[in-house]
Amino acid sequence: MSLKDKNILIGMCGGIAAYKVCELIRLLVKCGSNVKVIMTKNAKKFITPLTVQTLSQNRVYLDTFESEHYYDIEHISLTNWADIMVVAPATANIIGKFANGIADDLLSTTFLAFNKPVLIVPAMNSNMFENRIVQANIQKLKQSGVAILDPDAGFLACGVYGKGRYPENHRIVVEIERILEKKDLEGKNVLITAGPTREYLDPVRFISNRSSGKMGFALAEEAYKRGAKVTLISGPVNIQTYASIEIINVETASQMYDVVKRIKDEHDILIFSAAVADFRPKDFKSTKIKKDQLENFYIELEKNPDILRYAGETKKNGQIIVGFSAETENIVENSQKKLYEKNADLIVANNVLQEGAGFDVDTNIVTLVSKDKIIELPKLSKKEVASKIFDFIVDYLCKK
Ligand SMILES: Cc1cc2nc3c(=O)[nH]c(=O)nc-3n(C[C@H](O)[C@H](O)[C@H](O)COP(=O)(O)O)c2cc1C
Repeated sequence: MSLKDKNILIGMCGGIAAYKVCELIRLLVKCGSNVKVIMTKNAKKFITPLTVQTLSQNRVYLDTFESEHYYDIEHISLTNWADIMVVAPATANIIGKFANGIADDLLSTTFLAFNKPVLIVPAMNSNMFENRIVQANIQKLKQSGVAILDPDAGFLACGVYGKGRYPENHRIVVEIERILEKKDLEGKNVLITAGPTREYLDPVRFISNRSSGKMGFALAEEAYKRGAKVTLISGPVNIQTYASIEIINVETASQMYDVVKRIKDEHDILIFSAAVADFRPKDFKSTKIKKDQLENFYIELEKNPDILRYAGETKKNGQIIVGFSAETENIVENSQKKLYEKNADLIVANNVLQEGAGFDVDTNIVTLVSKDKIIELPKLSKKEVASKIFDFIVDYLCKK
């Protein structure tokens, strides 16, 4: 799902992170959402309505008693219009007002009239955030079904380290998508492997590959948005996810294999998108190999454990296993062979020689190969590919 054409109502409060919400508005507009913003009186002390109006491409709503049209009661018409209300940054003050039913300005009045999903993004000094009254108000809102995004810990604008930091906007966008997305993976535990592995020769040298982990991370975020509990086992990558996903970092194929072995039975859907090295150096030197001791250097390689094969051989009843294959020729035939040999339910095959497919790019061109279906997908973003893969899993494999 995308946020295209979604109507998103933002409530901006008087916190120092208000300037970061300007970027959130831009991101949402870029996603194709329609964005309207209510600013509190104190939000205007931090950011001008002119900035917000320009970025949101809509008039800004400021006062309960100043409506553009005499027949329009804005705190009602805005609730009818919006699919979701996102309060960011949410001050301790507005959280207190929301939790206690106070409706003394346009934002708090609109909140009480709003009967659709609400996401609150608290951001404040860590002492304020940890204050028992603020925490009690947050609990009260959670209990009444309001989603609260836990703030980050880090260096705060007030000069201290602690919890209360406004999170990355990407994390907020993922959370909005999770709230609005169809929840067809609710209750499912999904395990995903991503990225390359490193096979060490000595403490500083290793054999690896060009995998960026982008496909696996896109799959993890997609599963999370669709309501799954996600565990991501990742090799060394330069990306991160801001979604609430458990990440287990590993380096070598053996480490990845050990983690998969330990936790695989707890999962309903297992997707092996990591580019695991097939071989590793037979000997690992515990000190750095010196070139002056050698004229030529030969590396003897031995096979790494085949993680997909292991998962297929030990598959539990009802588990769905998805493998990835990077092919350069005979894509469908090779993938069908892999599907049967490894006892998988789906192989996502990509021709890594095609431009816009495979390693370290933002797009992919894949063919989905199951026992009785072959679906060739066009060039899509890795996010879109992730969505198609889960559509296939949910609509087809889960129903079998
Ligand atoms: C410079 C400055 C920064 C502030 N930053 C925050 C903040 O990050 N979070 C917060 O809860 N309050 C913050 N406050 C306090 C709020 O502005 C104050 O509680 C205000 O009443 C909130 O009004 P509102 O919730 O109606 O927007 C800050 C105040 C000042 C002067």
